[in-house]
Amino acid sequence: MENVKVLILAAGKSTRMKSKNAKVLHRAGGTALIDHAVRTARAVSTDISIVVGHQAEKVKAAVPAAKFIDQKEQLGTGHAVIAARDAFAGYHGDLLVMPGDVPLLTASTLEAFIRFHREGGYRASVLTADVPNPYGYGRVVRRNDNEVDSIIEHRDATPEILAIPEINSSVYVFNNPTLFEAIANLRNDNAQREYYLTDVIGILVNQRAKVGAFKVENGQEILGINTRQELVTIDRVLRRRKCEALMAEGVTIMDPESTYIDEDVQIGADTVIYPSVQLEGATVIGDDVTIHSFTRVSNSKIGSRSQLLNGCVIVYSAIGEEVSVGPWAHLRMGAVLEDAIQIGNFVEIKKSTVGSGTKAHHLAYLGDATIGKKVNIGAGVITCNYDGTMKHPTHIEDGAFIGTDSQLIAPVRIGRDAYVAAGSSITEDVPPESLAIARGRQTIKEGWVKNRKKK
Ligand code: UD1
Ligand code: CA
Repeated sequence: MENVKVLILAAGKSTRMKSKNAKVLHRAGGTALIDHAVRTARAVSTDISIVVGHQAEKVKAAVPAAKFIDQKEQLGTGHAVIAARDAFAGYHGDLLVMPGDVPLLTASTLEAFIRFHREGGYRASVLTADVPNPYGYGRVVRRNDNEVDSIIEHRDATPEILAIPEINSSVYVFNNPTLFEAIANLRNDNAQREYYLTDVIGILVNQRAKVGAFKVENGQEILGINTRQELVTIDRVLRRRKCEALMAEGVTIMDPESTYIDEDVQIGADTVIYPSVQLEGATVIGDDVTIHSFTRVSNSKIGSRSQLLNGCVIVYSAIGEEVSVGPWAHLRMGAVLEDAIQIGNFVEIKKSTVGSGTKAHHLAYLGDATIGKKVNIGAGVITCNYDGTMKHPTHIEDGAFIGTDSQLIAPVRIGRDAYVAAGSSITEDVPPESLAIARGRQTIKEGWVKNRKKK
């Protein structure tokens, strides 16, 4: 929208969260609260400033591309706005002020709110809602259908005020410089000895300014997070929203209640997700993929028609099409699998590439390895990539067959179509199309048991 700047208040401590971390860094729907605020704000403005204080550096690091204002001491929401005064000196236009802890707020509500404010010609407007349990929120005292008289904080409210179901969302639009003129009159003579931004509304009304109140239909949207219980309630709503959006695009999610899919995850049509699956970060999943229970995929790519069986952990990895992984396999930190590969139970792959058609069905560790196409990795094969100081590479060329329980002591290369006999400890390169046997020869001592018993 034209001529809107946004100020997000995110400096507060997290007293009620009982956390050493700033509240806005806690996650709901897989995303930090501050990130939710910034994403929503971006829908109405490209000019976003954030007031930071408690754990300022961490909060700054969590949101790229915003302007930051420091509030050294946290003396209330009004005090946070005072800290921002210089940053908006000389700005004439609408200033949207919002808290960092209302992640269910949607962009379309913000747009409608700003339109209401402009069309009504208000100096300031408050976004409100009727909620079934207004406990703890500021209550909106109205003058008439569209205008506010004042906002009274829960702690400072009389029983009559507490009976009001309409709450302040802490989202406001001010027609600047209205806000910074009025804020000079703020005092902290209240229950918490804080400077309340909410008092600016009463101050403006006393100056005969028209203050609008825009009530959202869905009160849930403006619920804030002050406690761990509220964090979990809101997390569930966000996850449900994500699952519903994906279902609308043709993804089957068997049990949305137990499924955790982060906001940015993309999933193709006809993919089926069993209960208790977590899909995190920038994960992209193709069409017709099946993901079974207890699997976690983080920041990874899964190609179409692949299947992830139960209990897999896949982190920062890329998997091609028609690949089968698991059950109980671990792909971590840069495992890159081409197409039609089979990775079975208890196989761990790290920083390795695996060519199409390769199989590692049971109990293997493949680290720092470059593995060709149609390779067979037997049960219990281990790339010994670490000598205690350095990591070394293993190369296994196309078509090679690595017999069960072999150790490939890196750096080492197994040539094309070569065979490594089961139980070998390979320390030297194996030329293409040859057989390497590297194990103690078997000796038989016949009658050994009887002889021993005689002694
Ligand atoms: C505030 C409102 C209340 C409203 C509720 C909606 C006030 C006084 N009260 O209460 O009317 O119903 O939000 O959720 O405004 N912050 C700072 N610096 C500070 C204090 C707070 O930046 O010194 C930030 C916080 O990080 C937070 C936001 O302001 O993102 C709101 O603060 P919070 O303490 O959660 O206010 P509430 O008690 O919820
Ligand atoms: Ca709050």
